[in-house]
Amino acid sequence: MTGTRKPSRERRLALLAAGTLVVGALGAGSMLHGTAVAAPVCTVDYKVANDWGNGFTASVTVTNNDSSALSNWKVEWDYAGNQKAGSGWNATVSQSGAHVTATAPSWNSTLASGGSAEFGFNGTYSGSNPAPTTFKLNGTTCNVDGGTGGTTTGGTTDGGTSNGGATNGGTTDGGTTGGSGEPGDRVDNPYAGAKLYVNPDWSEQAARSGGQAIANQPTAVWLDRIAAITSGSAGENTMGLRDHLDEALAQGADALQMVTYNLPGRDCAALASQGELGPTEIDKYKREFIDPIAAILSDPKYADLRIINIVEIDSLPNLITNVGSRPTATANCDTMLANGNYVKGVGYALAKLGAIPNVYNYIDIGHHGWLGWDDNFTPTAKLLHQAATSEGSTVDHVAGFAANVANYGALKEPHFTINDSVNGTSVRQSKWVDWNRYVDEQTYAQAFREEAVKAGFRSDVGVIIDTSRNGWGGPNRPSAPAAKTSLDAFVDGSRIDRRIHTGNWCNQAGAGLGERPKAAPAPGIDAYAWIKPPGESDGASEDIPNDEGKKADQMCDPDYGGNARNGNSKSGALPGAPVSGHWFQAQFEELLRNAYPPVD
Ligand code: BGC
Repeated sequence: MTGTRKPSRERRLALLAAGTLVVGALGAGSMLHGTAVAAPVCTVDYKVANDWGNGFTASVTVTNNDSSALSNWKVEWDYAGNQKAGSGWNATVSQSGAHVTATAPSWNSTLASGGSAEFGFNGTYSGSNPAPTTFKLNGTTCNVDGGTGGTTTGGTTDGGTSNGGATNGGTTDGGTTGGSGEPGDRVDNPYAGAKLYVNPDWSEQAARSGGQAIANQPTAVWLDRIAAITSGSAGENTMGLRDHLDEALAQGADALQMVTYNLPGRDCAALASQGELGPTEIDKYKREFIDPIAAILSDPKYADLRIINIVEIDSLPNLITNVGSRPTATANCDTMLANGNYVKGVGYALAKLGAIPNVYNYIDIGHHGWLGWDDNFTPTAKLLHQAATSEGSTVDHVAGFAANVANYGALKEPHFTINDSVNGTSVRQSKWVDWNRYVDEQTYAQAFREEAVKAGFRSDVGVIIDTSRNGWGGPNRPSAPAAKTSLDAFVDGSRIDRRIHTGNWCNQAGAGLGERPKAAPAPGIDAYAWIKPPGESDGASEDIPNDEGKKADQMCDPDYGGNARNGNSKSGALPGAPVSGHWFQAQFEELLRNAYPPVD
């Protein structure tokens, strides 16, 4: 009943005023309900919708039978077993000891006389899972005739501290195969020993486009709009989330990779992947995007599948690098910083999806050519921590980070390191490196991991590096370090990343497929993975009508001279690309040709 529509501002103000009046005039607790009546003044119906032995989904309906409306409703109970409630939907659920408190969401904070609200959550337990027997609504005991008007319980915890059912136990994975343990068993690295899901939408497209040799590689499923949940992501894709999960079971896969990518005001520093939700549509994001995804992922039939969720690329780092007085600032990023909706959206996604025992959240950390400078690096780690501890999330909801998603940064620069110098001058002073602290994704990812732990993330976090398009093979790949005739000649002649500038990101000419997906390839790295499906465009340079919110982006135009975010360089893009997410045959063929390691 809670409805997904946000009440108008006027209505919310009216409700707020009415609520204040009730509390102001009558006070809290028993007084609210006055003389005893025959029917219970409130009823709470607690149902375990699913139970899989050590975890469960509960659904709770609370009804206000009193003659007055109740503002800021709050339901409380105590567990008799060792149940731990994770974060909820349609209420903020928190637990302290055995005591659980569910507080109203801001958008549905009033219970009218005779009105009900429904909320739910996932929990964990061992032993038995008995339903609680006594419930209180704002201090009044429910389900008892006449309303005994219980006193307000003390020691309630503030909302937003739920611990996700302590599902991130951090047991180490000795390379066991998924599916062999109990449902919901957490592992440190969900890739280790796991057979990964191959997305048929991409695989079949790749195979009919000349990519038979790589068509059996696992790639991520992108949930890039609300419609993707039921009918497939942008472009030629047709499978909804349930189709993918069912197909993953049919393949006998242990793990599936997906990307949640639909924040309000998405992609604030570019136009190519702007999305369907406007900057203020955070409630729609929560109710119509994250909540339905959570409902599907919580289905117990998928409990054995490790679900690797890459959370919202193109978002949080923009709030550090592309705002305020920086020359790289954009009006859209300033808006998203001011309204807080990136932080809230990411926090909510982490809380909601991370509460599901078999979901592993990885937060996007851009790439070295974006965040590798001192001014960006530490502030980003801190901002990510802030997001990961907002909206009911905790660091226990974060398995790690994802680097280089949909980007082209070289995994490793084989012919030079950040510590090299030419005639006593550090490569950091070269035009290409430009004072960055990193020259490749692997050194960046490992260092960011350490920084994130310092910022408060768990010490067992790992990083996924997207290697789908950072191979840089083909005829232009240097095979040895260049002569040290000058600093720039050495760096430019040695680097395998052949881009014009590390800030270039759209359909890069000369790129090739990178390392094939691989689990635990290096310390701190959970996987090399193909998150961006090779062959799907990064964006178009001309306006192409679409219903996804995507716009023409000059960064996809080879003739564009650039802006502050790419050092005012040429874009390096291939010409004639379709809208982002749609199939770009010419790019796919080049990626195959320039693959490194080569495709045989
Ligand atoms: C697009 C998405 C697409 C993803 C993967 C992004 O740039 O905006 O629609 O699903 O790339 O190709």
